[in-house]
Amino acid sequence: MTSIPTLSSFDDDSLDRAFAALEKQARADAATLDGTEAVEAFRLRWIGRKQGLLNDVSSKWLKAAPPEAKKPVGERFKALKELVERLLEQSAGAGPSDAELSAEAIDITLPGTQRLMGAEHPITRTMNEIVGVFAALGYSVGVGPEVETDYYNFECMNFPPDHPARDTQDTIAIAGQERRPPRDRLLLRTHTSPVQMRTMEVQPPPVQIVIPGKVHRNDAADATHSPIFHQVEGLCVDTNVTFSDLKGTLDYAMKALFGSSVKTRFFPSFFPFTEPSADVQISCIFCGGKGCRKCKHSGWIELLGCGMVDPVVFAFAAEKQPAYDPKKISGFAFGMGVERIAMMKYGISEIGQLFAGDMRFSGQFA
Ligand code: DAH
Repeated sequence: MTSIPTLSSFDDDSLDRAFAALEKQARADAATLDGTEAVEAFRLRWIGRKQGLLNDVSSKWLKAAPPEAKKPVGERFKALKELVERLLEQSAGAGPSDAELSAEAIDITLPGTQRLMGAEHPITRTMNEIVGVFAALGYSVGVGPEVETDYYNFECMNFPPDHPARDTQDTIAIAGQERRPPRDRLLLRTHTSPVQMRTMEVQPPPVQIVIPGKVHRNDAADATHSPIFHQVEGLCVDTNVTFSDLKGTLDYAMKALFGSSVKTRFFPSFFPFTEPSADVQISCIFCGGKGCRKCKHSGWIELLGCGMVDPVVFAFAAEKQPAYDPKKISGFAFGMGVERIAMMKYGISEIGQLFAGDMRFSGQFA
């Protein structure tokens, strides 16, 4: 049966016969359903909202019935509808056919999809370790922006405009800044030192802070250089902070990071924002100081820069926080490269491996 005939009489007998025929048809249809597609077709054919047979019954029989026949037609219609719904439920419950099952068969003996356990990247791990050493000494942890102004990156750190000291940090500048005053022009910070100033501007002394972060330089990549790398900066300001405090702190930190047998020595150096400045060397962790290829047979490895905060830097800070009066306070600062320390700790010979994302490399740190 593909369509619902018009009824010529609405007496009980005629109605019984007409509805019985439909019930029989519904049962016959339902008996042949083999699979989810067939069940869906049955549903559409019988109770589809627009073209379903029950819809037709409703308009051709129920709506067309004379007033006195509405009730008997309605009761039979309701029973038919319930029957169709029951048949549908039973067929759907029967689940997919054998053919469907085998098409979608799951081989439970195959290995599952493995989700690898995440792990800290060696740079993150090293950075956290360095920060942890200073946090245990009472240092707080700060961060600053990677896109920095010329003022914070250079000027207030005592690199005057056009001063040759700027050449030591080949800078990546943000384009289209020509209309701004030179000190407001944006660049990618070349070091974490500008966060020293950002910290002092919002916090009067005493200050003890470490600042981990990413820095950028227009350097060609090679085995030990990458244009993007990480530093941990440190700043300690208070009354009567001396170079001895600096030496004691860094000697302790190097022993905490590389082992208690490590020795440190301080070599005169130059940074615009510290005076005096020093490079810190540690006794070679590979040969114990005897001399090897790693330390170029010197027994020492250069690891970080440091010094006493230059009064010029304090004077810039005092513009916002008068308590940074160089006559009343003093301080030391230091900065170290995280990649270099990670490479030494984990015996990595190519800096690029830290950023290549090769699982054969990264997986070793899981
Ligand atoms: N900012 C320096 C650099 O990137 C590292 C540095 C040296 C930081 C000495 C300091 C410091 O705070 O006192 O080369």
